[in-house]
Amino acid sequence: MSETPAKAAAAPAPAGGSSRRLRPRRSNLAVPASNPRMIDKARTLPVDQLFLDLEDACAPLVKPEARRTVVAALNEGGFEGRVRVVRVNDWTTRWTYRDVVDVVEGAGANLDCLMLPKVTGADHIIALDLLLTQIEQAMGYEVGRIGIEAQIENAAGLLAVAEIASASPRLETIIFGPADFMASIAMKSLVVGEQPPGYDVGDAYHHILMTLLVAARAHGRQAIDGPYLAIRDLDGFRRTAHRSAALGFDGKWVLHPGQIEACNEIFSPRQADFDHAEDILDAYDWFTSAAGGARGAAMLGNEMIDEASRKMALVISGRGRAAGMTRTTVWSPPEP
Ligand code: GLV
Ligand code: MG
Repeated sequence: MSETPAKAAAAPAPAGGSSRRLRPRRSNLAVPASNPRMIDKARTLPVDQLFLDLEDACAPLVKPEARRTVVAALNEGGFEGRVRVVRVNDWTTRWTYRDVVDVVEGAGANLDCLMLPKVTGADHIIALDLLLTQIEQAMGYEVGRIGIEAQIENAAGLLAVAEIASASPRLETIIFGPADFMASIAMKSLVVGEQPPGYDVGDAYHHILMTLLVAARAHGRQAIDGPYLAIRDLDGFRRTAHRSAALGFDGKWVLHPGQIEACNEIFSPRQADFDHAEDILDAYDWFTSAAGGARGAAMLGNEMIDEASRKMALVISGRGRAAGMTRTTVWSPPEP
């Protein structure tokens, strides 16, 4: 398993949307923008993405100074191989426009995406898209290069997620924000990401995660799970990460270096699954060729494979390659 940030192309786009912005994003590190020491540390960490946070991890009084810190840090660099993101404040505050203008004018060339929190409708995404376009034009940047990541963090956002997911070609990810979401629906718990005490009939987050995932996939976006705040409880982190990874999520936030290795591992395919996926792709290529009998369905060991198997294998194989995995098996056509 690769310990370093994944550099290769990400998994192929699922059906239904744009494929231009699918980058490896297994681990997404939150870094308070007001803390230069933590920004320095982030440069050394093997995450796929990091975001410098001007929102909730940054107190109102220090936001102006934090914007300057963000611009200086992005321009100084040292984040190679990782997706560079800044989380701005949401549109209901008085800070958003200044966050966007200062950061993109000051460091737009060294920025991959802006993350917009508490998105409740397509209008939030469209407003950010328009503002970005103006700044890109005025600064002579390539128009449309900077992507948008949308955090869904309340009931209104969940209800509007399908329209949010299709609001702009800049949109790259749909992100679950569990802390704000729990507050928004008045969930009876203070432990972010854990099951609320008393709920003993399933996973209290299943409907939310599945709704976000389906909306993301319908429009070719990535789906990212949010933070697990009990940073010393690695078992708890692993348990919640496994749940969203099993559903199909692309990655999860990490708040502490101790969560990174587990996160990268959990959101990569297992070696046996990666090898099997590569075998399916090779075998399917051969069985459907003239040499292999031009068959639509065939047996691979004890398993029947067909076009749908190929699509499933492409997802696992794409994610594995993006994570820097290499195959440990060789498939050969059956003897004539
Ligand atoms: C993240 O922003 C959250 O609210 O969980
Ligand atoms: Mg939040």
